[in-house]
Parts: sequence; C-alpha cells; structure tokens
Amino acid sequence: MDTLSHLIEIKDIYKSFGDLSVLRGVSLNVSAGEILGIIGASGSGKSTLIRCINGLEATQRGEILIKGQRLNSSREAVNVRKKIGMVFQNFNLFPHYTVLQNITGPCRVVRKLSKKSAEELGESLLEKVRLKDKMAQYPGNLSGGEKQRVAIARVLAMEPEIILFDEPTSALDPELAYEVFDIIKLLAEDGMAMMIVTHQIGFIKNLAHLILFIDNGKIACSGNPDYILNECNHPHLQDFLMRLRENI
Ligand SMILES: Nc1ncnc2c1ncn2[C@@H]1O[C@H](COP(=O)(O)OP(=O)(O)O)[C@@H](O)[C@H]1O
Ligand SMILES: [Mg+2]
Repeated sequence: MDTLSHLIEIKDIYKSFGDLSVLRGVSLNVSAGEILGIIGASGSGKSTLIRCINGLEATQRGEILIKGQRLNSSREAVNVRKKIGMVFQNFNLFPHYTVLQNITGPCRVVRKLSKKSAEELGESLLEKVRLKDKMAQYPGNLSGGEKQRVAIARVLAMEPEIILFDEPTSALDPELAYEVFDIIKLLAEDGMAMMIVTHQIGFIKNLAHLILFIDNGKIACSGNPDYILNECNHPHLQDFLMRLRENI
C-alpha cells in the first residue's frame, strides 16, 4: 500500500520525558475503516503514543504522517489534525455547558457553523448516541456512560476520519461500559477508523482488525485478535493476559 492510502503512518518514533525513555521505536499504519486495538501494562506508553499521534506531545525521533502529511505546526498540518478525534478516559466535558452546548460550542468555534446548523447537527448526533432526551441537562446530572457518549457525539461533530480512544471505559462500571461499547460498535459499522486503547479484551477481540501489544515502549507483538489472544507466545504478553484474566 502506498503512503497516501494510509490515514496514519508512524515511522520509528521515539519519545522520552527527561531520562525516561517511553516510546522506543514504534512504527504502525492505520488505513480508512481499520480498527486497531492497543493493549499493554500500565506505564508501557499507550497514552503517550496516542498523545503523540494527536500532536499533544512532540516526538524526538521518527515521523508521523497524517494522510501523507507530516505532523508539524504548518497550517495544513493543523487542518489535517482536525481529522483526528480523541476520546479520553475522563470525558473532558465542559461542566457549565448543557449537553447540547458541549457539542454546538466546538462546532461553532472550530467548524464555524451557524447556530442553527450546529444545533441540528448536535441533535442528530445526540440521537445517534441515544441521548437526545438529555440535551438540556448539564454533564453533572449524567452517568459516566452518558458523559462518555456525549464526548463521542462531540468528537463526531468534528467529522473526524479517525478516532483515538484512550481507555474510554476504564472509569465506568461494567454495565455503563457496555453502553459506550455499543456506540463504538455502531461507529465500526459505519466504517470509522479507530485506535482503541483498552484493557477490555473481550470487547476488542470481536471488533479489532489488528491488536498491538505494547511492552516497555515497543510493539512487542501484533496480529489479529485470535493470534494475540491464543497463539502468540511472547512471555510478557502471556503474563499480561494472565493478570487481566485473573482480575475478571
Ligand atoms: N508528561 C509526562 N512527564 C513525565 N513522564 C510522563 C509524562 N507522561 C507520561 N509519563 C511517563 O511515561 C510512562 C508511560 O506513560 P503512559 O504513556 O501514560 O502509559 P500507559 O498509558 O501505557 O499507562 C510512565 O512511566 C509515565 O509516568
Ligand atoms: Mg494510559
């Protein structure tokens, strides 16, 4: 596949914080419609990888191309970066805005939509995440699962070509996590490209085309879910999966 057919192309990136070397030569590609699951122990560098892709952290070596364009501060790169949506563990909603305003605000500022268009879009996206009846509420009155669904609707309003999820359900009780996974499944059916960092293996094994196991800042193993969960015999992966299963 040539470079332009990849939405995201990462070539041998390195990232340290002072003396702490966190990403140590990571390369990967994501194409349109592709879903990557990312697993690995706490502290292995998963969030740092996601943050580098989204331009929230700068890398020290290597290259990140978004639709063939280098991530730097040029105006085109800023525009290309708008194609990447990001869903965090802790929702990051604006508490003093209603649910609908959480979506229409960024639409008006970033996409320069009129009030009417932003509201129409906001309402249709809230319907998609099954929260239209909550649009006048404030985030403080919602459950964690509902907050995360609003956060997803807000990301969709930016019309991203790929969404990066960093442990989107780890702050939620299991039954609320399912609500969020149901929405992520809908996005998968729509063909949205996604990178999903999660410890919820049972969920991504039915969804991801490829799973990457990050170990100490490197991709130690990658493959389809069946290979990663049942066949790969990398000892650190085996230890990681065993610990996860013990916690279930
Ligand atoms: N801004 C930062 N400054 C210093 N150290 C950081 C920073 N962000 C992450 N780290 C460190 O980098 C390592 C990897 O962190 P992270 O990418 O958050 O791991 P994961 O998401 O896999 O749990 C950890 O040791 C963490 O403490
Ligand atoms: Mg993390």
